[in-house]
Amino acid sequence: MLKVERLTKTYDAAGGRQLTVLKEVSFGVGAGGSVAVVGPSGSGKTTLLGLCAGLDQPSSGTVVLAGRSIGELSEDARAQVRNEHVGFVFQNFQLVPTLTAVENVMVPLELRGEGGADTEAAACQLLARVGLGERYDHYPVQLSGGEQQRVALARAFVNRPKILFCDEPTGNLDSDTAHAMVELIFGLNHEKATTLVLVTHDLELAKRCQRIIRLRGGAVVSDSAAKSGDALPGRAR
Ligand SMILES: Nc1ncnc2c1ncn2[C@@H]1O[C@H](COP(=O)(O)OP(=O)(O)O)[C@@H](O)[C@H]1O
Ligand SMILES: [Mg+2]
Repeated sequence: MLKVERLTKTYDAAGGRQLTVLKEVSFGVGAGGSVAVVGPSGSGKTTLLGLCAGLDQPSSGTVVLAGRSIGELSEDARAQVRNEHVGFVFQNFQLVPTLTAVENVMVPLELRGEGGADTEAAACQLLARVGLGERYDHYPVQLSGGEQQRVALARAFVNRPKILFCDEPTGNLDSDTAHAMVELIFGLNHEKATTLVLVTHDLELAKRCQRIIRLRGGAVVSDSAAKSGDALPGRAR
């Protein structure tokens, strides 16, 4: 489903220097599999997720997503691969403030050219699934952080993505709400065999994944799959 090889990302820094924030990162995840990316703040987790999802281009290395080598695609073709296969939950939700919950969830469908009553029904159904059936006409400002995060999750799932990227999906949530979020993500993963790539500080969440990749200073410092061969959920360290 996803295979990244020797991904490197370098930014131009002040004084003509180069800042390498990701160094030769390689891993893969099969259809229906799950990977957690952990590591301290600034270690390159968000950068890695953006590259894997085709939101950003690497300085070197390759990303094969849903069978397409995305570095070789035009901006438009990349957007199409994203729209067809990818769901993304951003660290800060990125809901549209002027749209209601249900309108936010419908955005990816409208980008696909699927408007209308069916679209709205599908969006409402997903909102109910994440426990926001009564909140569909609320604006983001009228929702708590946990509720906004659930709207963002419903939006990420509305296209039935084959692969879901989540950047610290429980980062801003209290432990009860975080637990509910984890159950939702893995419930949808099991129901729909969605592949998961999760960036997290949350050990409960990381341990639910089949594989844990630890980043430090932009490099992989440990990979549970490399240690235990076939890491089992809950056993990976
Ligand atoms: N557009 C950018 N230009 C320059 N440096 C960046 C840019 N985006 C991220 N960085 C740097 O890359 C490093 C990794 O950032 P990030 O991937 O957001 O880390 P994490 O998500 O693990 O906290 C940080 O040092 C950050 O300052
Ligand atoms: Mg980050």
